This record gives sequence, C-alpha cells and structure tokens, in this order.
Amino acid sequence: MSHEGGERAKFSGHIGFVLAAAASAVGLGNLWRFPYLASHYGGGIFVLIYIIVAVTFGFSLMIAEIAIGRKTGKSCIHAFGDLARKYRWLGVVCAAIPIIIVAYYFVIGGWVAKWFIETAAGHLSDMSGYAGNYWWDYITGEISGLGDPMIWFFVFAGLCFVCVIRGVERGIERVSKVLMPALLVMIIGISAYNLIALDGIWDGVRFYLSPDINELTGGTFLGAISQVFYSMSLAMGIMITYGSYMRKDVSIENSVRNISLIDTMVAIIAGLMIVPPAYIFGMGDEKGMGLMFEAMPDVFSGMPGGEVIAPIFYLLVLFAALTSAVSLLEAVVSVFSDARNRRRNRSIVLALIVLIPLGILVVLGFGPLMTDLHPFDQGAGILGIFDTVTNSIMMPIAAILTCVFIAVVIKTRTITDEVEAEGAEFRSKRMFEVMIKYVCPIMLSFMLVLGLADMFGIFSVYRGASQRI
Ligand code: PHE
Repeated sequence: MSHEGGERAKFSGHIGFVLAAAASAVGLGNLWRFPYLASHYGGGIFVLIYIIVAVTFGFSLMIAEIAIGRKTGKSCIHAFGDLARKYRWLGVVCAAIPIIIVAYYFVIGGWVAKWFIETAAGHLSDMSGYAGNYWWDYITGEISGLGDPMIWFFVFAGLCFVCVIRGVERGIERVSKVLMPALLVMIIGISAYNLIALDGIWDGVRFYLSPDINELTGGTFLGAISQVFYSMSLAMGIMITYGSYMRKDVSIENSVRNISLIDTMVAIIAGLMIVPPAYIFGMGDEKGMGLMFEAMPDVFSGMPGGEVIAPIFYLLVLFAALTSAVSLLEAVVSVFSDARNRRRNRSIVLALIVLIPLGILVVLGFGPLMTDLHPFDQGAGILGIFDTVTNSIMMPIAAILTCVFIAVVIKTRTITDEVEAEGAEFRSKRMFEVMIKYVCPIMLSFMLVLGLADMFGIFSVYRGASQRI
C-alpha cells in the first residue's frame, strides 16, 4: 500500500485483503484480553454472548465500515465528511480512539517481550515457582522496580515505530502468512496438551464452554460488547481505512465473514488454552488482566519440553501483538497526516510526542503513587482506565453514532449498494439492515447507560466490582 497521495494502491485480492485485516484483528485482544474477560465474566455465558454479538453486530459493523472506506476511498477522518459534509466530526471521534489504545498496547506488548526474553533465558521455573503473583509484582515494580517494565515498553514501542518509519507493512504481511498459522497451530497444540495431561481439566473446560445463566450479569454483556469492538478492530476507523484499499471486485461480505471467523476462532481457542488451566489452578478471577502472564508459565513448567516451547510461544504472541500494534500506530499516523495534510515524517514525530508520554503514564500507573487506582471493573491502574474508557465508553458511542449516521443520514441503501457493487451477492442484507437500524443502536445505548451508571456508582450491574483485574 502506498502512504502518500496519488492513486491508492490496493490489496491484491480476496486473500490479500482478508490476511491483512486478520493480521490487524488477531492480536492481544484474542490472546490476552478475551481469556481474562471470559474468566472474569462467567466463562461459558461470556463466550456464548461474545459469539452472538460478534456474528450479528460485529459482522454488520465491520461490513459498514469497510463499505464506507471503499465507497469514499478515504480514511476515517475524511470518509464521513465525504458522505455528508456536516458529519466530518464523526471521523474525528473514531480517530481519537486508537491514540489511547495504542499507548497502552505498547505497554502490554512490552510485558510479552519481557516474558519472551525471561523464558528464552531459561527463567521459566523462577516465574512459575514464584511465591505470589509474579506478573502483578513485576508490573508494580516489586520485583525489579518500574524501570524494567518501562524499558520493555520502550523496546516494544520502538519496534513499532521502526516498522512504521521503514514502511515495512508489506514485509509484515508476508511474514505473518507463516507466523499466524504457526501461532494457531501452537495454541491448538497447547490446548490439546492441556486436555490430555492436566488433571481435572474438564471442570475448567465445563466452566469455559458450558453457559451458566446464573453467571450472567450486566458486566458480561458490556465486557462481551467491548471485546467485540476491540478484537475485531471496530469503531475506531481502522476498517474504514482498510476498506479504502479494497478493490471493487472483492466481495465485502465474504471477506468480513472470513475475517470475523478467523478472529473469533483464534480467541476461542486461546481461551481454551488459558481459561481451563487457570480455573483449575485456582486463578479464576483474581488474576484478571495478568491471566495470560500468570497461567501460561505454570502450564509450560509442567509440560515436557516446556522450557523450549515457552519462548517460542511468547515469540509468536509478540509477533501477533506487533502486527496489530503496527496497524494501530499506522492508523494514528495517517490520522495525523490526513487531518492537517501533514507530511508523513512530521506525523510520525507527532505520534511519538503524543504516545510516548501516554505510555509512560500507563507504566507509572502501576507504581506506588497509584497502587490502588482501580475505579472500573475491567482492569486496574491507568491501563484499566484507558481500556474501559475506550472499549466500554468511547467505542459504543462511536458505534451508535455510526449506526445512526448510516440509518438516518446516508441510509442503509448507500452501504448495501456498495456491498452489492459489481453484482456481488449480499446474503445477510436483511440482518444487516435490522442490526444497523434497530438492534445495535438500541442495545448499545442501553448497555452504555447501564455501564456508565455502574462505573460511576449509581447502581451496580457487575459482579464483584472490587476484584482486582
Ligand atoms: N484487534 C486487535 C487485537 O485484538 C487490536 C487492534 C485494534 C488492532 C484496533 C488494530 C486496530 O489485539
């Protein structure tokens, strides 16, 4: 893809498009966020609601965003204004979200890099044998001070910036054709190992896969919806930009079906790898945000060859995180470029100036001055605040506005016509219309009000808001 001006370069075709979008979608959302939310919000019931929301609402919103991008040929900051001048601000709302997400994504990417180096250096047993919560003590600076997580944040952020500066997205796409399937094989292999080798694992599997209605809370819904946005890279303009690079003769509907299938499948298998062992190791809720970092060293340390498998696993996770982070950073840089017609280099510098301090704040957010910072249920520290504000507040708002914009201002026809361009079939057209016009805006508004009421203590729809995750 070209970055500056001129005719937009396009993805080569259906497979090229699906792979590029899937590389952006599959990342820490699937491997880190989905498992801990599933663990926290009731296991099977969360998984069920997640799937329902992903295949109805996530699917429809992704179609809408890609169609808007392809129709206008613009990235999100101009796409809305292009369709209806008065609504340019909607693009600005969407564009603001990745700025916050990418800052904390760098920090988590740093943890993954650290886990890779530690396990590669043969320290797996120190991690799994640690008396207490290794991950929590590491990020709060108990183990090696906050300087260490800070360094790893800079390492991961630096890697992403280097990729964006050198414009190696194409290269990343090529490598990810090999590494993504490798990651998939690995998580399937580890899950299979767990099922065969771990005593009592089926209790954990039952918790993870069989929905228990008694576990259903408002938090389950809000968590699942926020996760669909996050995991499918929705409501932040990214898919609009991807759509702008899509050729007219590639089917939007089929592409979206494949992308959402890959993304959901990876999340569910990653959950199968992490949630049941965490459950039987008694890590359920309280490990929350650190679930992947706490449960997996324990799994590896009991596994034959675990010392070798662990670093390979973290390396593959690191790669998945990198592809997503680069696509997020690329989104931020192109927003900065598009918004004021800045040169790309200047936008990169601006991204550095904005994102690095935000990331530093996230690392310090686990420090002694802010140890008890835990206002929201979905995560601790500044990271938890950034995560909740983006995924559970800003994205639902952006999605509601997008639906209303489509239903009222430009009409669903504009989108369905684009999906049907060049004679393509749109099999889920009816569902799409019902979703965008009624179900999504109404349900999301309802959930948003409930969620906000809970967050600000008006009344509680969550279970155990005091649990540290
Ligand atoms: N979907 C990515 C993940 O699951 C995160 C992401 C969001 C990446 C938005 C790019 C854009 O990790």
